[in-house]
Amino acid sequence: MSGGAGFDAATSRKVEALYLTPEVATQRFQVLKALELREGERVIDIGCGPGLLAHEMAASVGRDGCVCGIDISEDMLAISRERCAEQNWAKFQMAEATDLPHPDDSFDAAVSTQVYEYVADVPAALSELWRVTRPGGRVVIIDTDYGSLVIHTENQARTERVVQAWDDHFLHPGLPRILSRLLRDAGFIIRRRDVIPMFNPEYQDNSYGRRLFGMMASFAVGRNHISRQEADTWLAEFAELGRQGRFFFSLNRYLFVADKPDAG
Ligand SMILES: C[S@@+](CC[C@H](N)C(=O)[O-])C[C@H]1O[C@@H](n2cnc3c(N)ncnc32)[C@H](O)[C@@H]1O
Repeated sequence: MSGGAGFDAATSRKVEALYLTPEVATQRFQVLKALELREGERVIDIGCGPGLLAHEMAASVGRDGCVCGIDISEDMLAISRERCAEQNWAKFQMAEATDLPHPDDSFDAAVSTQVYEYVADVPAALSELWRVTRPGGRVVIIDTDYGSLVIHTENQARTERVVQAWDDHFLHPGLPRILSRLLRDAGFIIRRRDVIPMFNPEYQDNSYGRRLFGMMASFAVGRNHISRQEADTWLAEFAELGRQGRFFFSLNRYLFVADKPDAG
């Protein structure tokens, strides 16, 4: 997985499973609340992925509204289309975050969750976000700061190698730290910022931390001299820590709510 183009069919399904965990479902609830969508509104989902948020937004805006999802992964778009098959006011299209296929001022609201950390030119993407949002419209962005990862491990060196291999696939693993400035430079007025923790103090089946570790282990194989066997041993450490009641995982996502000021 490298950049958006790396979200092939298998990875897309893994992301879908990760994003169906209760932690990310809670995040979607927070995003929907922040968006304050009303019936009949038009909203764009930039990097819509498996369409979980698009599906919920389509229910909020109703058939008189419109949800436009864009993504650079055809496999992700296929999952989105399947998920929203009965909501024909939700449309999905292949496009780059830096080149949105919509006229100026098209949307009442725009959202992009867990996407800009993969985009090479974030200022260009924010400039596109600004362009397609109408004056008086609002935007909601979420990105993870991988510097906030706290894991209990008894083999720090091995864990650091796996985490390093994982971090290397993000173009901006610490984007939230600089996003306020980038949003202001693009012309937005920041209204709110919040931290959304992915927090698992126990080793549980359908938890974000456990699923993410599975993805990290598979991704690390062949990188940083990590073999499949070492990746499996790394994973097994957490299962054992879980059995002993000594598991700990915490990683922060950051929510930004901003407005495009009214013209004049
Ligand atoms: C981690 S997933 C997040 C999906 C979705 N936003 C969510 O939160 O459920 C990242 C998504 O961003 C897409 N993506 C990455 N780079 C992109 C780009 N430059 N333009 C558009 N989409 C991009 C990927 O294809 C992938 O579907």
